[in-house]
Amino acid sequence: MSFLFIYFLLSLDKNFVMKNRRDFLKTACKPVVLATLGIPLLEACSSEELSTTDSTVNSNSGATERAPLTVNISSGDFTGLQEVGGWLNYTGENLLLVRISEEVIRVFDNKCPHQGNRDSWTYNGSQFTCGYHNNSYSDSCSGSLKCYTTSLSENTLTITFD
Ligand code: FES
Repeated sequence: MSFLFIYFLLSLDKNFVMKNRRDFLKTACKPVVLATLGIPLLEACSSEELSTTDSTVNSNSGATERAPLTVNISSGDFTGLQEVGGWLNYTGENLLLVRISEEVIRVFDNKCPHQGNRDSWTYNGSQFTCGYHNNSYSDSCSGSLKCYTTSLSENTLTITFD
């Protein structure tokens, strides 16, 4: 979108332009501002941060702790978890989730214990299988996959990273 076109749109209401130019520059997505100046940049615009992982630093040990994560399993890609046996590789949070029973959803780090790949999982018969070298891992918290603490209240799953 050219500068002239954007200027034309904004100049339709001169009061808007004069009153809000500073606000526009302060709040507009950086790529939009750069585009209006004729500088192309490939980056997504969003009013929200894409990362949902909150981390805090433990002042005692210096280790980074990951804040608990809540997931609504009645929406989006998570609806499969409403049925026993439903599972999901939640790559945005590096998690494997599986509905074990009506009361329990187990959550694991999706990092394969073999070579660390995260993106080629299947699930069948209580086993996750990594497609890179076809190694399989139990959906038990005593298995090789790192298991996190979870609680399920109606459709809200809370994952604690301890
Ligand atoms: S990286 Fe997963 S089986 Fe090798």
